[in-house]
Amino acid sequence: MLQHQIFFALVLLMCFCCFAGESFNFGQFNSLTMPNRRKFIQSSVLGTTALLLNRITKAGGQYNAVKNNPLAISTWDAGLEANREAWKVLSAGGRALDAVEKGVMHTEASKNCCVGLKANPDRDGFVTLDACIMDENFNCGSVAFLERIKHPISVARRVMEKTPHVMLVGEGAQQFAIAEGFPLEAQQLSPDAEKNYREWLKKSEYHPPEINVESQKGHGPFAPARLNGDWNHDTIGMLAMDAQGNLSGSCTTSGAGFKMRGRVGDSPIIGSGLYVDNEVGACTATGQGEDVIRVAGAHSVVEWMRQGLSPEAACKKVIEKIVRIKKEKAREIQVAFIAVNKNGQVGAFSIHGGFDYAIRTKTAEKLVKAKSIFKEKPKND
Ligand code: GLY
Repeated sequence: MLQHQIFFALVLLMCFCCFAGESFNFGQFNSLTMPNRRKFIQSSVLGTTALLLNRITKAGGQYNAVKNNPLAISTWDAGLEANREAWKVLSAGGRALDAVEKGVMHTEASKNCCVGLKANPDRDGFVTLDACIMDENFNCGSVAFLERIKHPISVARRVMEKTPHVMLVGEGAQQFAIAEGFPLEAQQLSPDAEKNYREWLKKSEYHPPEINVESQKGHGPFAPARLNGDWNHDTIGMLAMDAQGNLSGSCTTSGAGFKMRGRVGDSPIIGSGLYVDNEVGACTATGQGEDVIRVAGAHSVVEWMRQGLSPEAACKKVIEKIVRIKKEKAREIQVAFIAVNKNGQVGAFSIHGGFDYAIRTKTAEKLVKAKSIFKEKPKND
């Protein structure tokens, strides 16, 4: 069937190329002598065939599963420790899906500005969590605006495995988590988050509802792009390839510190914060979620890899698109992608310098600085 389609497409394309090609000019064709016309048609046919075959092989045939060479990559320096947890699964011959869940669970449980229950709250003082997970068979699960549950990534996995749905949010996600046996944690900020929140309240002059709901005017202020000089989004996204050559990914965050209540970023959105296509590769994102969503970031990167781009070049393409869209405002936001292809090549790209990602393989455990459009911005801006 595929062969027939390819043959038909070839014939169509040959005709198209001969009579209506972009670089073709009828005047030029008429001025050719008969042998030259034949030569011209022959070279058009050969060129078109080569082009089409190239496209066909790039569209699916160029990737071969790499066996017995597992790897894990994840965003930021917290990724080093997370990869270590993932590696326990991968080095024992376990599944990439288990590795990416276990890996980011470590970050969710640790002291962290931007992941898990110890992270900074929204502007009303509540920590709300977003996470998603995706396996090698396009199965995916997601939770957003989830409160008081320690491991949103595991709830996302349960959504994937135990419901007919992909995404649960807010109260419903919490109800589901409790029904699945996840403990409801105390409604309480970590000491660091409490301190940061009190500081932020002073500077922002925002009055949260429990203090004085009537005094709110308009909707501002919004989440700052930077907190104490650092970017205000340190999501952990992890991608893994197991010994079978299968890919999976996970992504988890508390979102932007002091965000509007109810705000959800890219991290729980399949196709934005995370995407896995086991024929081609996988990608995950960190940074300003709104700008990842508007370009369907992770999915776009995977599609560029399908076209034959390396992971780094594919990430760069989508970062360039964000910068093009945002124009001058791109200087005020950070977005970064990391990606892996089916051949086991990895890469990353960010808008601003300073983004690094962690790699773990049989022979390497390292933090790598991603290339970027702009140089690293000084922290005291
Ligand atoms: N990338 C995380 C967020 O924007 O929430």
